[in-house]
Amino acid sequence: MGNILEIKNVSMRFGGLQALHDVSMTVEEGSIAGLIGPNGAGKTTLFNIISGFLTPTSGEVIFEGKPVHGLPPYRLTEIGINRTFQNIRLLQEMTVLQNVQLGYHCRTRTGLFDALGRTSLFKQEEETTRRQALELLDFVGIAQYKDELAKNLSYGLQRKLEIARAIATGAKLLLLDEPSAGMNPAEKDGLAALVRAINDQLGRTVLLIEHDMRLVMYLSQKITVLNQGEKIAEGDPAQIQSHPRVIEAYLGRSYKGGERSA
Ligand SMILES: Nc1ncnc2c1ncn2[C@@H]1O[C@H](COP(=O)(O)OP(=O)(O)OP(=O)(O)O)[C@@H](O)[C@H]1O
Ligand SMILES: [Mg+2]
Repeated sequence: MGNILEIKNVSMRFGGLQALHDVSMTVEEGSIAGLIGPNGAGKTTLFNIISGFLTPTSGEVIFEGKPVHGLPPYRLTEIGINRTFQNIRLLQEMTVLQNVQLGYHCRTRTGLFDALGRTSLFKQEEETTRRQALELLDFVGIAQYKDELAKNLSYGLQRKLEIARAIATGAKLLLLDEPSAGMNPAEKDGLAALVRAINDQLGRTVLLIEHDMRLVMYLSQKITVLNQGEKIAEGDPAQIQSHPRVIEAYLGRSYKGGERSA
């Protein structure tokens, strides 16, 4: 299979700070890929660019062969890119089920007119998204919380809910920003199984930022390493673990694997 995503010579400057410098990378369709690097390396900035929250200073983002840099987030959601956030963003005062239904909503055909008038098309779609959302909650393992407000879920469960919402948008490419942050070891094992299932049962391509080295090495076919805005390595997990520049980048900053907060 070809590349679903190509990042070409992307740079991002914030005033005097060069957050990304000439970064190029690819993600193969159907794969799980990892993006790692010490704090401040530019990982989230790259996600913000891919998902349309930032426009790169220079360079290109190619999704399914077409340039997409500069498109707004909602357009990228429509064409098949969606993400989760390092700092969870859910509608905290809405229920778990409603949060996932909102994910589906960007795929439905009814507009505001139908919603206000509660037309039969609206009611029919409402029933369909409800059924799909329930199935998806079951898939990620949080169906028993469907009527809880999102804010009442534990941190680990909120992360799963955010992933469910991203899946619900129909994303072909899911960007997960530190999905295991704040999870205990048992929850991390559950997350690993979930990401695998999203990939091989739902057929979604996954790019994940992760500080837990064990997790990212276990999940990823290919890993890209950023350090201070530059790509310093890419390869399979074995290549990355023994790569001198990667070891140097982490050791140089007294890195503690997996033990930092979002
Ligand atoms: N919107 C912004 N405006 C100004 N500076 C920013 C902005 N976003 C990020 N930065 C800066 O860009 C650099 C890269 O930040 P980024 O959040 O991409 O790092 P990261 O690799 O995700 O780090 P972490 O592992 O801590 O999440 C940092 O120095 C950060 O302060
Ligand atoms: Mg980050």
